[in-house]
Amino acid sequence: MNSDIRDDFPVDWEDDNHVTRREFLRFGTLASGGLALGSVALAGWSRFKTVGPDMEPQKIAVASELSPGQAMHFNYPRPVDLCLLIRRTNGELAAFKRRCTHLSCPVGFEPEKDRLYCPCHNGAFAAADGKVLQGPPPHPLPQIKLELRGDEVWAVGLVAHGGHP
Ligand code: FES
Repeated sequence: MNSDIRDDFPVDWEDDNHVTRREFLRFGTLASGGLALGSVALAGWSRFKTVGPDMEPQKIAVASELSPGQAMHFNYPRPVDLCLLIRRTNGELAAFKRRCTHLSCPVGFEPEKDRLYCPCHNGAFAAADGKVLQGPPPHPLPQIKLELRGDEVWAVGLVAHGGHP
């Protein structure tokens, strides 16, 4: 029986190992190159997606309807992206993504402390610029760039925070 198989599939084992090694190296080289290119492309794409010009401006509120100390929810740039527009007690408007940069719990506005607070692990962010004030969040809260067009408040992109948009 074995001799039948050798007749049907004559293999020189030395050559077979050599070819297999060469193919393995070729595959490894192509796979590594593909992964490296994929990583670079993904990094570029995600950077472009977060701060690029394809973040369409979107009207999110009427400025005069938000009093000092108030906040309202909106979604930007996609319907699944939860955000918060706040009017600080000094009258300034600011907007941030609502997901805490620690483990993504939704943050809330605390106007009396001029901060955004995450109840999950006692994290807090400055209402002025999203900077981490306390707790485990590793990065500032992503801030939405706002533009006033008359009385309309428009979201027009993201503010970069030292490499963490
Ligand atoms: S999820 Fe916000 S502090 Fe942990």
